[in-house]
Amino acid sequence: MKVITVVSAKGGVGKTTLSANLASVLAASGRRVIALDLDPQNALRLHFGVPLDSIDGISRATLSGEPWQSVMFDGVDGVTVLPYGAVLEDDRRRFEAHVDHNPLWLAQSLQTLRLDASDIVIVDTPPGSSTYVRTALCAATFAVNVVLADAASYAAIPQMERLIETYAAPRPEFGGVGYVINQIDQSRQLTKDVLKVLRQMLGDKPFPGVIHLDEGVSEALACDTTLIHYDPLSQAAADFRSCGNWLMAAVDAIAVSPRNVA
Ligand SMILES: Nc1ncnc2c1ncn2[C@@H]1O[C@H](COP(=O)(O)OP(=O)(O)OP(=O)(O)O)[C@@H](O)[C@H]1O
Ligand SMILES: [Mg+2]
Repeated sequence: MKVITVVSAKGGVGKTTLSANLASVLAASGRRVIALDLDPQNALRLHFGVPLDSIDGISRATLSGEPWQSVMFDGVDGVTVLPYGAVLEDDRRRFEAHVDHNPLWLAQSLQTLRLDASDIVIVDTPPGSSTYVRTALCAATFAVNVVLADAASYAAIPQMERLIETYAAPRPEFGGVGYVINQIDQSRQLTKDVLKVLRQMLGDKPFPGVIHLDEGVSEALACDTTLIHYDPLSQAAADFRSCGNWLMAAVDAIAVSPRNVA
């Protein structure tokens, strides 16, 4: 099992969109892929056609002691979806206290799924530092840090780097972090300038790619599906595919030599 944890210091940069489309790309290549939502917004499932009124998910299952297998959905594109679930405020706080008490909660819960070595779990997280990000980084084989080509994202990069250094990097099975720059609009001079600065800042750090700004992304979500499914010939779908292929090669290399990819 390879766990790809998708994080960002800032909110609204496209983590959930990227998680869903990467899951779709990797499933299309024949891998078993689980898209796991660790964000109380419970939005990842919306990309996979899980019914809007469904309240099931890992938060409720954890609190009630039910196996995660009972809250798995068969999503579009052959992706298995583990939603966060819908919980009342008191239950959410109980769940967070439970996770906070044991940072290895996610890693241990994933073990109960008895996945094969080649199976991939993509974990979507809320922005910034939280108990969710901590447990997701403690389970990660690889982290994907999503940024926008803007000054605020640029300034926030060190914050997420510190979290990754603290929770993921010390573990021998952690393979490294890759940066994805989302919502690129090459017609804007500011985008070009920030992109240049970002590339300089990232230097030789692994760089799965850029994703172009594409209105098909929100149209796909409105149709309860991924862009890969909705408009496979679009520029952003091609970007997601190349990012997914880069990532698959990166996580597969980790089994051979854990520290070679970063
Ligand atoms: N490449 C893109 N082109 C156009 N719109 C995009 C792109 N990526 C994401 N979006 C849009 O940006 C908005 C935020 O995306 P998303 O919900 O995936 O971000 P997020 O980082 O998961 O947010 P949060 O921090 O709240 O969890 C959504 O409306 C989404 O449709
Ligand atoms: Mg999100």
